[in-house]
Amino acid sequence: MIEIIDLYKSFGDKEVLKGVNLTIKDGEDIAILGKSGEGKSVFLKHVIGLLKPDKGSVIVDGVDVTKLSKRDLYRLRKNFSYVFQGAALFDSMTVYENIALPLRERGFSENEIKSRVEEALYLVDLEGIENLYPAELSGGMKKRVGLARAIVSRPKYLLYDEPTTGLDVLTAWKINKLIKKLNKMEGITGVLVTHDIRGALYTSDKIALLNNGVIIEVIESKRYFEAKSPELREFLESGGLLGQ
Ligand SMILES: Nc1ncnc2c1ncn2[C@@H]1O[C@H](COP(=O)(O)OP(=O)(O)O)[C@@H](O)[C@H]1O
Ligand SMILES: [Mg+2]
Repeated sequence: MIEIIDLYKSFGDKEVLKGVNLTIKDGEDIAILGKSGEGKSVFLKHVIGLLKPDKGSVIVDGVDVTKLSKRDLYRLRKNFSYVFQGAALFDSMTVYENIALPLRERGFSENEIKSRVEEALYLVDLEGIENLYPAELSGGMKKRVGLARAIVSRPKYLLYDEPTTGLDVLTAWKINKLIKKLNKMEGITGVLVTHDIRGALYTSDKIALLNNGVIIEVIESKRYFEAKSPELREFLESGGLLGQ
C-alpha cells in the first residue's frame, strides 16, 4: 500500500505540491490526471524517493520513503518499476540487453534472464525482436519494449509517466490496452500519471485529479459521471465523456 500524506514540494518560489493526500491500496490501479505542468512527474518521483519533499510523507508498505538511507531506498526500489516519459532505451544495446538490464543489476543467471526476457516480450506482443536495436523500432514498439523492461523484474508497483504522449491515437490506444493487461496481472498495483482522460478511465480502477498542487477528487472509473469538481468534469467533457 502507498500512502501519501500532506506532501509539499517547491522549487524556488514555485510551489508545485501543496499538501497532496492519496492512498493507493495493493492491487488497485489508479490514474492521476492533471494538466501539463501540474506536478504529475514531480509527484511520481516522490513515490520512489527520487525527490525529497519539503514536508509530508510517502509510506510504502509501512515504511516512510522520505526518511530512508540510500541503501534502504535501493532495496525498496526493487518493488517498483518506473516507465519514464520517453521510452528511455539505450541505443547502443539490443532489445534483449535493454530488457535484461534490471535483471543483470540484480544478479540473475543468464538462463533465468533469457526466459524472463522472452516472457516479457511475449506479454507485450513483440516476440522475436531480441536482436534489433532501438533505432530499428517504431515509436510504439519502443514504448512496448519500455513496458517489457518494466515488467521483467516482476515488480509490485508499476509506475507510468505519460506512456502514450507523442504517439498517434491508434498506437496510443494499443499501449493503453497493454497497460490495462499489465495492471490486471496478479499482484500488480499500477500508478499511471497522464493527461489522457480516456486512457486513464480505461486502464485504471480509479482516477484522481491533481489540480493546483492538491488531489481535489478521487473517483471510481466506472462511476466517472458522478464526478463533482468542475475541473474533473471539464476533463471528462474534453474527452467527450460528459455533455457540456
Ligand atoms: N527539478 C526541478 N527543478 C525546478 N523546477 C522543477 C523541477 N522539476 C519540476 N519542476 C517544475 O515543477 C512543475 C511541475 O513539473 P512536472 O511535474 O514535470 O509537471 P507535469 O509532469 O504535470 O507536466 C513545473 O513548473 C516544472 O517546471
Ligand atoms: Mg510530466
